[in-house]
Amino acid sequence: MELVFWLNGSEARAEEVPGHWSLLELLRDRFGLLGTKQGCGVGECGACSVLLEGQVVNSCLTPAWRAHGRRVTTIEGLAAGGRPHPLQEAFVAAGAVQCGFCTPGMIMAASDLLAHNPDPDQEQVAGALAGNLCRCTGYHDVVRAVRKAARQMVEDGS
Ligand code: FES
Ligand code: FES
Repeated sequence: MELVFWLNGSEARAEEVPGHWSLLELLRDRFGLLGTKQGCGVGECGACSVLLEGQVVNSCLTPAWRAHGRRVTTIEGLAAGGRPHPLQEAFVAAGAVQCGFCTPGMIMAASDLLAHNPDPDQEQVAGALAGNLCRCTGYHDVVRAVRKAARQMVEDGS
């Protein structure tokens, strides 16, 4: 199977993609985008979260063919203008990154939330990240980081 799609803003082409491949396999094994993590592999942990047409999906459960003709954004594609995304900056500043394994997925899920709700309250952030498991942080600093980034983005007008 040949796939042509938009990957982090650039046209991407992949030939001879096995029909059984997931989007996660396509991103990691064909494009070397290792920021998207392979955790449970069965849709339970959210470590593999990416945006497909701007909506967060578990890439381990998404067939690779669904990317064809569509926009895929991974953690590598979030920064713009030579600086990290406000969510990336806020996660570091708030101490929301410990081992970091869950962080790319958390940030992709949070970016989907902020695209639809620029000023989420604590509960709304927690709800949006309910599918993203973290064994290190206890979530408090993660929620704080997302709300901090939201305020920053409103200030920046981004
Ligand atoms: S690796 Fe996809 S949800 Fe866990
Ligand atoms: S920071 Fe380690 S799993 Fe979340």
